Amino acid sequence: MCLLKAVNLKKSYIEVSGELEVLIGLNLEVNSGEMVAITGESGSGKSTLLHLLGMLDKPDEGDIYYSGKKINVQDRNVNEFRNKKIGFVFQFHYLLEDFSAEENVAMPMFLATKNLNKSIKEAQNLLKTLDMFERKEHYPNQLSGGEQQRVAVARALINKPEIIFADEPTGNLDAKHSNELMELLIKFNKINGQTFVIVTHELDIAKVVNKHFILENGVLRV
Ligand SMILES: Nc1ncnc2c1ncn2[C@@H]1O[C@H](COP(=O)(O)OP(=O)(O)OP(=O)(O)O)[C@@H](O)[C@H]1O
Ligand SMILES: [Mg+2]
Repeated sequence: MCLLKAVNLKKSYIEVSGELEVLIGLNLEVNSGEMVAITGESGSGKSTLLHLLGMLDKPDEGDIYYSGKKINVQDRNVNEFRNKKIGFVFQFHYLLEDFSAEENVAMPMFLATKNLNKSIKEAQNLLKTLDMFERKEHYPNQLSGGEQQRVAVARALINKPEIIFADEPTGNLDAKHSNELMELLIKFNKINGQTFVIVTHELDIAKVVNKHFILENGVLRV
């Protein structure tokens, strides 16, 4: 079943030197339960594309459909839809500096359930799987880049969203932690049937997914 469909997406940025066309009519279909990898050169528009698909930004042209329903980013219900259905691992993690690792991870679940104990417990479980239990009380500025990254991944997973967009989730990790993280994502995909769209530079990851696209010259190719 088609979960996410993007049709003819166009996105340009206006710069002093003129208009920079990043996406020029991009199409994409992602089925429910699929793992999709997107690779491409730095600056090719991968983060731009994820932001559009995650409804964090608006395309200049083109449409995005979830389960066959056209999404209008300006719609008031979009925030609720996004909070419920979508998990996002940003390229730059945006952790909340005043909260510990476990509190950062627990936050989305606490906001949704108002159950602090349960949220902290679930956050600790996830952090354990990511080899981060020992660091759970550290604040973001007391964590390494790779540790922050794993916190950001746990935060995106805690509410078991239907689809997770991950922007270079293993970018700061060594081989061991990178493998552990990928195994965790694959486990979530298998057990919960969650759909993943992963931007990565690592061809190893591109090999384990169901579909691999390359973003080049403003469109996706296989
Ligand atoms: N807000 C913005 N204003 C102007 N130009 C932008 C903006 N955001 C991105 N760009 C430009 O758009 C292009 C695509 O950026 P994007 O961040 O999507 O690339 P990317 O494929 O994610 O790169 P990387 O692999 O380095 O993360 C780049 O040339 C970038 O400089
Ligand atoms: Mg990027």
